[in-house]
Amino acid sequence: MRVLVTPDYRNLSQTAAALVVKAVQAKPDLTLGLPTGATPIGMYEELVRSFRGGQCDFALVHTFNLDEFAGLSADHPGSYREYMRVHLFEHVNIRKDHVHFPDATGDYEEEIRNAGGIDLLILGIGMNGHIAFNEPGSSFQSRTREVVLMERKQRAFTMGIATILEARRIVLLASGAAKAGVVHRALHGPVSELMPASILQTHPNVIAILDEDAAGHPL
Ligand code: GLP
Repeated sequence: MRVLVTPDYRNLSQTAAALVVKAVQAKPDLTLGLPTGATPIGMYEELVRSFRGGQCDFALVHTFNLDEFAGLSADHPGSYREYMRVHLFEHVNIRKDHVHFPDATGDYEEEIRNAGGIDLLILGIGMNGHIAFNEPGSSFQSRTREVVLMERKQRAFTMGIATILEARRIVLLASGAAKAGVVHRALHGPVSELMPASILQTHPNVIAILDEDAAGHPL
């Protein structure tokens, strides 16, 4: 795993976006795995800027989001479909039928296979080491499925850990001092299902992009 420490959140966002832009330029029909949460918002802003500047064309790009809540309509303000619309999709030239979210109806694994597999998957990390909605204790063999989010008392759909690991290239983003401890355990601690992000240590092509706060002085 390569670890790239950037001075601050703005730099982290620009670095991550530049990586995506470069990948789309190299392969215009790129298949992207995309996260939600607070961390990637700056990256999406940069991607919109790159689109407007003519550096990034999404016309042939396919996207597969990592997760989505169950039982929310697409336009519900709390849904990840709405998050993606607001932060990226409505601002760029991505085709609606190229955008995918896990749900109860389709076979997400098959949809990913039909798109040729995920070329580049961007990930955030939860405070307890979760990736997508794979909470601690999730099997490293898990595939896309419905899960129960204990803390939120809600159901959700998530790519599985095995699904995530099949991506050809993975970028992990983490920002802020609150994440320093979990980032250190995920990157340097034992590989364990109790720390889902630790499995990334076994993937041959991962870059962790951290800002200094997330990289520094873990307890
Ligand atoms: C959520 C999402 C994850 C995300 C994580 C971190 O639970 N399901 O995909 O990576 O939280 O979010 P944040 O970037 O806001 O810390």
